[in-house]
Amino acid sequence: GLKLVVIGAGSSYTPELMEGIIKRQNEFPIRELWLVDIEDGREKMAIIAGLTRRMLEKNGLDIPVYETLDRTEALLGADFVCSQFRAGCLDARISDERISLKYDMIGQETNGLGGFANACRTIPIALAIAKEMEQLCPDAWLLNFTNPSGMVTEAILKHSTVKTVGLCNVPVIMQKGIASALGVSDINEFIMQVAGLNHFIFARHIYHEGKDKLPQVIELISEGNDPLVPKNIPPFKWPDRLLANMGMIPCPYLRYYYMSDDMYRQELGEAQGEGTRGEIVKELERELFEIYRNPELAEKPKALEGRGGQYYSDAACELMSAIYNDKRIIMHVNTRNDGAIAGLPDDCAVEVSSMITRSGPIPLNVEPFPEDVLRLIQLMKSFEQLTIEAAISGNRYTAWRALVINPLVKSGQLLENALDEVIEHNKALMPAF
Ligand code: NAD
Ligand code: G6P
Ligand code: MN
Repeated sequence: GLKLVVIGAGSSYTPELMEGIIKRQNEFPIRELWLVDIEDGREKMAIIAGLTRRMLEKNGLDIPVYETLDRTEALLGADFVCSQFRAGCLDARISDERISLKYDMIGQETNGLGGFANACRTIPIALAIAKEMEQLCPDAWLLNFTNPSGMVTEAILKHSTVKTVGLCNVPVIMQKGIASALGVSDINEFIMQVAGLNHFIFARHIYHEGKDKLPQVIELISEGNDPLVPKNIPPFKWPDRLLANMGMIPCPYLRYYYMSDDMYRQELGEAQGEGTRGEIVKELERELFEIYRNPELAEKPKALEGRGGQYYSDAACELMSAIYNDKRIIMHVNTRNDGAIAGLPDDCAVEVSSMITRSGPIPLNVEPFPEDVLRLIQLMKSFEQLTIEAAISGNRYTAWRALVINPLVKSGQLLENALDEVIEHNKALMPAF
């Protein structure tokens, strides 16, 4: 059997992961399960461990569940490691949102100034984990969910020898939405090909029964009520005919770029009213843990569907099983480009449909992007690469170079003041800028 380690196990998403494991018990045999968190998450992890044990028992599975704050003990001899921690926890997310808004910018977990700050807190920890894995479990696979997932994956790909794949639930949500638009019940009945960067992907093809259904799906979702949007992004209608003219479906996160002012105004209104997304999630999380505590509960509760990351376990568990069983199915993952997207470096991380094998993902290449879209993807890749460099070096000029090219970040005095505040607020987790 396999040793599975979950880093950041106190996440309220963990029961989903456990459900996915239970569903796949016959194809993905687990010997022991190790939950890892830090002191701040000890109590949440204990509640998750309790629920996990009840879920396993209810399904007749005799798998020991260990809880630890000592990562090395957990990583020793691991086969699969799922990384899903939040550096600085929710309070750091909320401060990213609030600081950005204070300086007239979109405040978001993985985009703009917030994405930059998140990366600078997270990448040093992610690289420390990867270095430990090189010693303690050099053959293990590291599945990264930890946001900003694309940048974290690229940092590990470039600075460590650990085998790693980055994941996101956005492609899964898009697949489910497309299935409902097409009136198909099984997402494996059609093929969706996506390409781009994490939270910056485009659906390029949808094939069903030998036909390209992309134009039809575009028509259906353009009528409004876009079913492709996760819970954390406010529903918005794309401008008329935009998608039809593009001939691609931009993922919902592209709204932050193509409809920046609309998104900014909406966010500002929410921040002044019900709260930022991080603040809303804090309340949601409190409610979820109240439910998880219940000793009668032995399954994933419906309430988890209020989170934007729902279905991520489908991706995580399916990916682990696909690697383990050499399934050679198509999944949408963050991996080394290697020519899949023309115009981006081979060694950068891209989010693309890939064939999943025992030797890892083999990215499918896509027809070249139109030049304007490619330029935007390249710009965002430069932002990501400079951000990774800044997160490692703590070089303020590198940070400035990253931020000043990001379309969601202001320049001049607003940027200087915002950056000062981000650095001051995050001293404990960021390199010394
Ligand atoms: P959360 O705030 O509950 O954090 C999860 C756990 O991480 C907490 O229990 C916290 O104590 C712990 N933690 C913090 N620092 C740690 C460290 N250094 N080592 C180990 N554990 C640590 O977060 P959440 O909302 O459940 O999300 C977890 C992570 O997964 C975030 O990074 C989030 O952005 C990401 N996420 C990604 C996707 C995706 O599509 N890739 C989907 C959902 C969530
Ligand atoms: C999903 C994204 C995740 C993100 C989550 C936020 O759309 O793919 O990367 O972490 O939403 O959801 P939340 O409920 O935390 O706002
Ligand atoms: Mn994501």
